[in-house]
Amino acid sequence: MTGIICGTGSYAPSYVMDNNEIAAMVDTSDEWIKERTGVATRHIIKGETTVSMACEAARRALLDSGVRAEEVELIIVSTISSNVILPCTACEVQRELGAENATCFDMSAACSGFVLAYNTALAYLSGGIYRTVLIIGSESLSNLTNWKDRSTCILFGDGAGAAVMKAGEGRAYLPVTCSDGGKGKALTCLSRHTPVESAHMNDPEYYMQMDGQAVFKFAVKKVPEAVNEVLRKNHVSKEEITWYVLHQANSRIVESVAKRLEEPIEKFPMNLQEYGNTSSASIAILLDEMKRDGRLKNGQKIVIAGFGAGLTWGASVMEWG
Ligand code: ACO
Repeated sequence: MTGIICGTGSYAPSYVMDNNEIAAMVDTSDEWIKERTGVATRHIIKGETTVSMACEAARRALLDSGVRAEEVELIIVSTISSNVILPCTACEVQRELGAENATCFDMSAACSGFVLAYNTALAYLSGGIYRTVLIIGSESLSNLTNWKDRSTCILFGDGAGAAVMKAGEGRAYLPVTCSDGGKGKALTCLSRHTPVESAHMNDPEYYMQMDGQAVFKFAVKKVPEAVNEVLRKNHVSKEEITWYVLHQANSRIVESVAKRLEEPIEKFPMNLQEYGNTSSASIAILLDEMKRDGRLKNGQKIVIAGFGAGLTWGASVMEWG
């Protein structure tokens, strides 16, 4: 028994912020941002929330899967940027969708969040505990972005992606997941409920702060290691993998991972040019785009890999359809 993705959906706010708009706020340029990150635009909320985007992505995934909201037995939302603490984002989605039979909880693992939500759903499905699960990554990172800090504000965007998973016959591949809290200072953001000395909501501690080079080095070393390990553990060869769907942080990170794995860059789809880094939503949004444009075909083997704050990272193998 395993878990199979049978529907996907995504939502991005209609407001698109290009690099020139950022260059009007901080000392940077379209050329610098594109060259160092690959990002050209990002979608930014104007009235939407983490909950509303999660709901819309989920509605689209349910429609795509043909599953009714009442059939969903578990909803997991991965987010670090919800507009609600209580009730949790997943319960808000449940109410809005009328998924009255679902158990709901949120997960917080930053840019590794969707991979961990997928693994959790897979464990419940392959263990026979649930038959139908909805997983969602939804982020309003613009609320956690310091728009005066040029080293971070160029990177992030808002959006949500969702997948419906059903129990079915097949192989449940083993995941690789890792965390290193000892290196957590590389990427931080204090909760708005944490008092800092002479606290003011404009203090940079309340926004994402990052040692960009440290995160970059961590990602290009640990992601290929995790991918190699997940393939070895499951006795799957690189030749069998059609796509490596990585967290969309920076095109140079994706290119470097491809190079270290000695795999062609064509196997590494990217949409960060349009969305920027949407943390736990990025892999789900990309899977949805690939499903809709026909790149994903039944029987293909895919690796998904996430990495980010924590530090956390991990990779999973799945068979599509
Ligand atoms: N525009 C122009 N110049 C800039 C900008 C900018 N936006 N940002 C930094 N610079 C300058 C720096 O001040 C520095 O100038 P100096 O040489 O005079 O001191 C120079 O550019 C080089 O700075 P670096 O930090 O070395 O630039 P780098 O090539 O490392 O690129 C970047 C920075 C894009 C942040 C890169 O390090 C990166 O992408 N890191 C990974 C970030 C990431 O993926 N984070 C998300 C993790 S996922 C999660 O959990 C949220």
